[in-house]
Amino acid sequence: MVRWPGVHRTFRSRRRSPLIETTQDPPRARLTEADIRGGAERLRERLGPVPRTMVVLGSGLGGLADALEGARATPLAELGPFPPAGVEGHRGVVLAGDLAGGRVLVQSGRFHLYEGHDPTVVAGPVRIAAAAGVRTILLTNAAGGVNPAFEPGSIMLVEDHLNLQGENPLVGSRRPDEPRFPDMTEAYDPALRELARSCATRAGVELVAGVYAAVLGPSYETPAEVRMLRALGADAVGMSTVPEVIAARAAGVRVLALSLITNAAAGVRPGVLSHEEVLEVGERAAPRLSLLVRTILEALSA
Ligand code: HPA
Repeated sequence: MVRWPGVHRTFRSRRRSPLIETTQDPPRARLTEADIRGGAERLRERLGPVPRTMVVLGSGLGGLADALEGARATPLAELGPFPPAGVEGHRGVVLAGDLAGGRVLVQSGRFHLYEGHDPTVVAGPVRIAAAAGVRTILLTNAAGGVNPAFEPGSIMLVEDHLNLQGENPLVGSRRPDEPRFPDMTEAYDPALRELARSCATRAGVELVAGVYAAVLGPSYETPAEVRMLRALGADAVGMSTVPEVIAARAAGVRVLALSLITNAAAGVRPGVLSHEEVLEVGERAAPRLSLLVRTILEALSA
């Protein structure tokens, strides 16, 4: 064996440094093909037949999960090499139950890139659900309003996205049966968007529409970054959803996404941003978003 005394010494001394010792983060794991297949199998074992429709609930939007009837649930951490959920307001469970006249799969809480997870992990629950038979996914998130016309509390129908996260869950080996270069022209299914618009009208919920820019976070944007995002064509900015959308589209799953505009993005209006404000506005607007999601689910199961 070749010895590298210098390297060895450097490694030992770095291990002793307080900076390394205070770090709690485990090494960044990737989700493998076997994890996806095993996760799909466990999903069926734990929750019974997997519904064709899935809803992903973002920060502070978990209330809808409580409305499921006859629900069976499993923690995400039991479906694969997933860590226990991170940020407050995130529960990290998958449930199957009846809602609005049909059976749905609900993911309450998600993993974010800013928590240090690999993009394959962030998109993992969606990939497992798709492998288990889900064909339509409705994703929700909280986002900052880049479009100055958006009032906090508005709900935005996502028409397209800008992936500015510098990551993509499809990087690495291609999954069997998935294209190497999936088309993203109609990532947000036009027929589902039309359905969402008519459901919003029927439910009396006002809906705005636009482009969602996904950034890495976890710091909020600077006002200069928000001006850049506006110049690039963004209407809202957030730190989630896009990895899941990309993975879903690669698997041929139809996608609909709704952003709850919890705040004007930095510099759009006077004042500073806080996560508490994001959660509070999210909580206040959640019943309207829930009503819209239920109306859409009703229409899907009709
Ligand atoms: N920026 C990024 N992500 C967000 C914001 C924001 O202003 N609000 C809620 N999520």
